[in-house]
Amino acid sequence: MEKFIIKGGKPLKGSVQISGAKNSAVAILPAALLADTPSLIDNLPEISDIELLGEMITVLGGEVKKNKNEMIIDPKGLKSFYPPQNLASQMRASYYFIGALLTKFNEAVIAMPGGCNIGVRPIDQHIKGFEALGAKTVVEHGVIKIKAQKLIGNHIYFDVVSVGATINLMLAAVKAEGTTILENCAKEPHIVDVANFLNAMGANVKGAGTDTIKIVGVNELKGCNHSIIPDQIEAGTYMAAAAATGGDVVIKGVIPKHLESIVAKLTEMGVIIEENDENIRVRVNERLKKADIKTLPYPGFPTDMQQPAAVLLALADGISFITENVYENRFKYLSELSKMGVNAKVEGRTAVIEGVEKLTGAPVYATDLRAGAAMVIAGLAADGVTEVMNIEHIDRGYEAIEVKLQALGADIKRVKE
Ligand code: EPZ
Repeated sequence: MEKFIIKGGKPLKGSVQISGAKNSAVAILPAALLADTPSLIDNLPEISDIELLGEMITVLGGEVKKNKNEMIIDPKGLKSFYPPQNLASQMRASYYFIGALLTKFNEAVIAMPGGCNIGVRPIDQHIKGFEALGAKTVVEHGVIKIKAQKLIGNHIYFDVVSVGATINLMLAAVKAEGTTILENCAKEPHIVDVANFLNAMGANVKGAGTDTIKIVGVNELKGCNHSIIPDQIEAGTYMAAAAATGGDVVIKGVIPKHLESIVAKLTEMGVIIEENDENIRVRVNERLKKADIKTLPYPGFPTDMQQPAAVLLALADGISFITENVYENRFKYLSELSKMGVNAKVEGRTAVIEGVEKLTGAPVYATDLRAGAAMVIAGLAADGVTEVMNIEHIDRGYEAIEVKLQALGADIKRVKE
């Protein structure tokens, strides 16, 4: 086990290069199995979720060649529709193998997904969609067994806006017979990235990025080359770190359009933000102002930015409110942050945060990926030394976070616990 030791109080200065989007990459790697020939995926983030997916694809019989920020996947040798349970249960995104393997083999068997403990996180909408396409599902002993004689297109209305269900049903419908209409879809940038990848392989997917997606089944998909879009949440995390430390940082290699809700909220808090085509400069020259945040599916303020943004509100002048509309239990990290002086209380889906002048360093435990990022940001801003434990959560979604922060002048070290 490893931990970060952070000596806070130093404004971040310089520039940081954003890596490929985790939540796009974790869908596109299983999607590459849909083709009959190899795909080359680049701009992949170097994070543990990607390593895990590469291992699962190998166990299934696919051939994986991993270079830095790049993976070549040859699905020719794929022979199993049962990803190894010990690996699949370590990450939630393993559920994308269901859509991919259903299309490949008309069958999939997979462990009920794991992932961050931020709520129940059911997959009923995924199952509803697969069954609408003709699959039968049995859940027993913590494993989902799903099988179809043939996948036939249908009209599916999601009861809940779900990134995972939207993507998984695209994977299951691209080679189904006839046409599938998905309604009430999620519109995140990674949905569009996955649809672009599928279309580059020869699929016929229209409307990704809107709430209605039309998929006309095709017979064959060929491997292709694809570059993962930049990670809007990693970018938002570094924007928050720059603002929390009163720094001046250029965030490089972003798509500003994907960051609009984050830019709007930080601007409202008094952060000075300058955009050009693929870079964003973030600086602060006065105390942050209070703000109210409501998390919503894209293009609303992203739930994955709720935790990093809370640290800014904890330092702002006044009382702020955060309403978490996507998950039912994504405030647990506030009790850890209270050890550093964050003054917050939670009432249902709303956190009330009273800003303080200064945070003080303390030993804290990352409870999930984005909570870990919030604790790192708090440590960078705080007076004194912060130790962040359980940083394997952070390594799941942030490429070399301490290296990137050291290059911005942060005093952060990764040490064995
Ligand atoms: C993806 O999770 C991301 N993970 C999450 O990021 C992100 O928070 C979430 O989308 C929302 O943007 C990956 O892409 C691997 P959802 P996902 O289905 O697909 C409920 C991170 O930090 N729901 O959009 O699981 C669900 O419980 C992670 O990178 C159902 O009720 O999210 C949640 O309340 C954390 N039934 C809401 O919908 C379902 O069948 C949104 O979930 C599916 C979801």
